[in-house]
Amino acid sequence: MEVLRKAFSQKLDPLVSEFVNCVEDDESFITDDIEGSIAHSQMLGQTGLLTPEQAENIRQGLQELSRQFSEQQITLKPEYEDVHMNVEKYLEELIGTDALRVHTARSRNDQVAFDLHSFTCRAIKRSISLLQSLQKQLLSIAEANTDVVLPGYTHLQRAQPVLLSHVLLSYISMFERDKSRFWDAFKRADCSPLGAGALSGSSLPIDPAISARLGGFTTYFNNSIDAVSDRDFIAEFLSCCAITSIHISQLSETLILWATSEFGFVTFEDDVTTASSLMPNKKNPDPLEIARAKSGTICGDLLNVLMVLKSLPTGYNRDLQETKPPLVNSADTLHLTLKVLAKVLSSMEVKSGKMLEAASDPFVIATDLVEFLVNKGVPFRTAHEQIGELFAFCRSSGFNPAMMPIARLRSFAPELTQEAIALFDAKLSANAKTSAGGTAAVRVEEMLSYWRTALGSN
Ligand code: ARG
Repeated sequence: MEVLRKAFSQKLDPLVSEFVNCVEDDESFITDDIEGSIAHSQMLGQTGLLTPEQAENIRQGLQELSRQFSEQQITLKPEYEDVHMNVEKYLEELIGTDALRVHTARSRNDQVAFDLHSFTCRAIKRSISLLQSLQKQLLSIAEANTDVVLPGYTHLQRAQPVLLSHVLLSYISMFERDKSRFWDAFKRADCSPLGAGALSGSSLPIDPAISARLGGFTTYFNNSIDAVSDRDFIAEFLSCCAITSIHISQLSETLILWATSEFGFVTFEDDVTTASSLMPNKKNPDPLEIARAKSGTICGDLLNVLMVLKSLPTGYNRDLQETKPPLVNSADTLHLTLKVLAKVLSSMEVKSGKMLEAASDPFVIATDLVEFLVNKGVPFRTAHEQIGELFAFCRSSGFNPAMMPIARLRSFAPELTQEAIALFDAKLSANAKTSAGGTAAVRVEEMLSYWRTALGSN
């Protein structure tokens, strides 16, 4: 069955029809589309463009369609091109001629924009809520491990001892910024385009403020051309997803490294690890590797949308249809990845002994010795050189600096005293970093309590 082609003398070529229809992508927008149609038709009723009976008949019909779609009694037909024409045609079959009035003062251009705004707002809220759950989970792991010390790394080389809680809190901070970026994007996505028509508005006495409110939006467009052609709210949502996915990939990579025999800092239960077809010894952290890789998928989606938008001329262009698959894909991928990450974290065991063993490497105390000397009045650069020479000697000779007699230590740094020997203690070293935002237990406790309140984990 052909739709909208009364003015055409030929049928649409089947290949072209297949190429331009988007019913598969539109599966994700059925609910939004029906809600938009209800908001629009109610507005038409309130402004006198439909009688109250017509508006009510349309509303009931649309609600019935919503039920039929959700119970899969009806599905989108490709010959109707998109979700909008499908809903209109099904409505006509269901309620008869009142359905012919539902498209009054409306175009598929403002309709699809409504669907996309509505979908994006929902996806943003879901992203924030999943991130919040992940933060709470990281917080509870941090709280259960407040006395665990491990080496902090720079350049993936052991640097200085830090608390495990401090490392976990660093990810909570990253995810907090991600949430705030999503909220920021929400403010701009929360804007109804209904009433913009094809691009110029309408000569009929519509009221976009009413359809915005009924459609669940805080505000509505101030320029009808912009309303139908704007997709930067999608690019913005995807860029939030992309940055979040990068953080997820960083956390995943850290955990993958920590789970190696070389580190041995964590283990995962069997329900989240996978087997090798050849090597019976293997337990692989595949979900974390997939999570790490999904950042590539999501960043690709962002680039996809930006490239679709680049160089579009003013007004609506069909190219915009191509922003739907990356939008849906990124939202689904991010949400699934966050849920999987939560599952993996709940199956993680912290090996505090292994962490302490690695943090007890005397070389990670070098900076503490430098700061000891600075406290004795030695200029920082001089102290840095003296301790540098001491550790170079230890490295080449195999001496453990923690075991060297004080007299030998003083031959490198004359201001060192017996007290300095006591510094070779990873926990003491971590707990000495009391400066603001530092890793000392006293600072970490403050931050744990801050996050407990901020995340509502009390
Ligand atoms: N399916 C289109 C989209 O997703 C909306 C329809 C607008 N089509 C048109 N010929 N004006 O963007």
